[in-house]
Amino acid sequence: MARRTIVITGASDGIGAAAARALAEDGHEVVVVGRSPEKTSAVARELGADFFVADFARLAEVRSLAAQLRDRYERIDVLANNAGGIMADRQVSEDGHELTFQVNHLAPFLLTTLLLDRLEESHASVVSTSSAAHRLFSDFHVDDLESERSYAPNTAYGNAKLAVNLFTRELDRRYRAAGISAAAFHPGVVATNFAATSTSSMRVMYQTVLSRFLTSSAKGADTLVWLATTTPGVDWQPGSYYVKRKVATTHPLVSDPRLAADLWERSVEMVAADGAPGAAA
Ligand SMILES: NC(=O)c1ccc[n+]([C@@H]2O[C@H](COP(=O)([O-])OP(=O)(O)OC[C@H]3O[C@@H](n4cnc5c(N)ncnc54)[C@H](OP(=O)(O)O)[C@@H]3O)[C@@H](O)[C@H]2O)c1
Repeated sequence: MARRTIVITGASDGIGAAAARALAEDGHEVVVVGRSPEKTSAVARELGADFFVADFARLAEVRSLAAQLRDRYERIDVLANNAGGIMADRQVSEDGHELTFQVNHLAPFLLTTLLLDRLEESHASVVSTSSAAHRLFSDFHVDDLESERSYAPNTAYGNAKLAVNLFTRELDRRYRAAGISAAAFHPGVVATNFAATSTSSMRVMYQTVLSRFLTSSAKGADTLVWLATTTPGVDWQPGSYYVKRKVATTHPLVSDPRLAADLWERSVEMVAADGAPGAAA
């Protein structure tokens, strides 16, 4: 298989780091993106890969990341939007957005839209790490994306991952003809650092002895690696949501094209709200 340039966010730990290892082993050029400089540089050093650091709680850092990636890579064959997680009490970022929504949806939305022309030229795949939580825990209201009316960590996380699935649908609708292929996936219930700083009840499952019963990071990375290394339209269906390499059922709201379009427009406004250059679309 031809060597692909694969940018993975959240590659400093967990599922992203496992995917980076598997893809580097397969001979691909992996670009390791993380939040912690120490963890990110350690994974990159291990793989002999380039690395970039950005905290998605700050949209200015996402803009800077996009600019650095554009400068550095003429081709980006795969953008894996994998960074994310579940938070504690409701927090608002310096950009004025609820943190779960910003880190899981708005930041990858901004990164992707700032790279659109590069992704089009490269006929890239955009692979987003969603979660079954988008079906189990969401209570999605497009007029309350910031969870101002009510907030619970699990619901905010489910809503943010539902937004990731809507983004995947809308990216496919807008840019498939231009050469971009989008997919979202659920990695399974994987023993990682997930929920380590959350007040969610899920913390018990991930951060105690119970984590022994969960899937390994390497297995959790399998569908990401598969989507990143196979051919959209042949091996997988663009615009779809995958679990264990199979198309899976989404929350019914994900099939609403008006909602997907509405979320896209609102996301453009939210990432451009501070007057800085926002999304390109
Ligand atoms: N584990 C599961 O069972 C499970 C299930 C469904 C979906 N997921 C999703 O899978 C993805 C990977 O999670 P994981 O389970 O591998 O957890 P993890 O071990 O905690 O890894 C999370 C990754 O995201 C990065 N990250 C977190 N907050 C960030 C921020 N504000 N800015 C930039 N990067 C940030 C982390 O960077 P640093 O380590 O450098 O801080 C790390 O690389 C997430 O999107 C998660 O929601 C996980």
